[in-house]
Amino acid sequence: MALKKGVEIKPATGKLGVLTPGMGAVATTYFAGNLSIRKGLTPPVGSLCELGTIRLGKRTDNNTPKIRDYVPLAEMPDLVFGGWDPIPDNAYEAAVRAGVLETKHLDPIKDELSAIKPMPAVFDQQWVKRLDGPNKKTGTSKMHLAEQVMEDIKTFQAKHGCDRMVLIWCGSTEVYRKPSDVHSSLAKFEAGLRASDENIAPSQIYAYAALKLGIPYANGAPNLAVDTEALMELARENHVPIAGKDFKTGQTLMKTILAPGFKARMLGLQGWYSTNILGNRDGEVLDDPESFKSKEVTKLGVIDQILQPDKYPSLYGNVSHVVRINYYPPRGDNKEGWDNIDIFGWMGYPMQIKVNFLCRDSILAAPIVHDLVLFMDFAKRAGLHGIQEWLSFYWKSPQAPTGLYPEHDLFIQLMKLKNTLRYLKGDDLITHLGAEYYD
Ligand SMILES: NC(=O)c1ccc[n+]([C@@H]2O[C@H](COP(=O)([O-])OP(=O)(O)OC[C@H]3O[C@@H](n4cnc5c(N)ncnc54)[C@H](O)[C@@H]3O)[C@@H](O)[C@H]2O)c1
Repeated sequence: MALKKGVEIKPATGKLGVLTPGMGAVATTYFAGNLSIRKGLTPPVGSLCELGTIRLGKRTDNNTPKIRDYVPLAEMPDLVFGGWDPIPDNAYEAAVRAGVLETKHLDPIKDELSAIKPMPAVFDQQWVKRLDGPNKKTGTSKMHLAEQVMEDIKTFQAKHGCDRMVLIWCGSTEVYRKPSDVHSSLAKFEAGLRASDENIAPSQIYAYAALKLGIPYANGAPNLAVDTEALMELARENHVPIAGKDFKTGQTLMKTILAPGFKARMLGLQGWYSTNILGNRDGEVLDDPESFKSKEVTKLGVIDQILQPDKYPSLYGNVSHVVRINYYPPRGDNKEGWDNIDIFGWMGYPMQIKVNFLCRDSILAAPIVHDLVLFMDFAKRAGLHGIQEWLSFYWKSPQAPTGLYPEHDLFIQLMKLKNTLRYLKGDDLITHLGAEYYD
């Protein structure tokens, strides 16, 4: 369905419930940041919704409001958090265990964080081999588990008086699986839930529950979820926004910043070797080859789409692209990534670029979760549904309509995001065309 220009956007009044399947490093860093920022203790760095601006009209118009003053977005104090996890730690305990944030930042919000206790999870170790915990649901079928998740959501919404809800998967990366017959239509998927089909993953059960209730769902991990025909059909039927997948942080963020630059200057690429050491629980889960496979697939797609080797075979026709993640406990959440990039220039002369990024994974992921929560809620209020391609900016592997290639270039993604907001508000798109021309 084509986007409509100048739509009615419902206001963001009342409370917005945010539920995360998975309450580990990313989710708790996000909750903690939100609670700390609303007390004015720390700044919302990294969030386009909180800090970004949007130019309207010509440069001479001098009209560049903040994005949140331009479109109605939920305010931080109106967010209420909850989640599910097989590990029964509350959000404070989980944040301490994750080791991302320092005590000086956790102490002032300890009470609020401690009150966020995980609901029993839909969990099956077949899908995440390196983890287990006692806080799990039991049910007579996968449909029965989905019904329990729906009950959880309704109970949370009623208890906290939430006007609207958003679900965002912050759980571990599940093992790699291609879509199977049970994912090919909603009818088959529902029959599969009733028969507890082995190809239906826990993450898909949460997604199904959310979409059934008309609640937007975003997938922060690389595994298969709302990018299946069955769940896309449900999203269309119930008019719900969906988005995914795999938060674009760290090395892939750097790739989608650098690769468009090489291409813009028509510099060639021979190879890109990326390796990481990571010591958090996510790293431990990714140490399992089947979970790593999910991650590898989303990480590898990026360069090819940006560089378009079919259009520029002499520059990008023979790129060797390798990605490695090694679990190395001493580093905790502070990942270190090395990239060796072999490029070539005029007359084919080779050059090398080395990038050594000492990043903090969850610090980069948390503002992405925040923006997605706010924009997915906004999308629903603006009447958008199905795949939210304008939010590709946030994903390592952006979901695109069947048959279309996803856009990976960070700068095109940002332009698409802002132009979508302008279009929905009925304003002119910004083309960056010059103002003056001479004969
Ligand atoms: N941090 C980043 O920069 C980043 C970037 C992209 C994607 N991701 C993805 O985000 C996800 C979360 O990352 P993290 O660092 O918080 O990992 P984490 O291991 O700290 O937390 C994941 C949590 O999910 C829970 N979990 C697993 N299966 C579950 C289920 N079925 N239901 C409910 N809970 C479940 C685990 O018990 C764990 O507490 C991972 O899939 C990761 O690959 C993270």
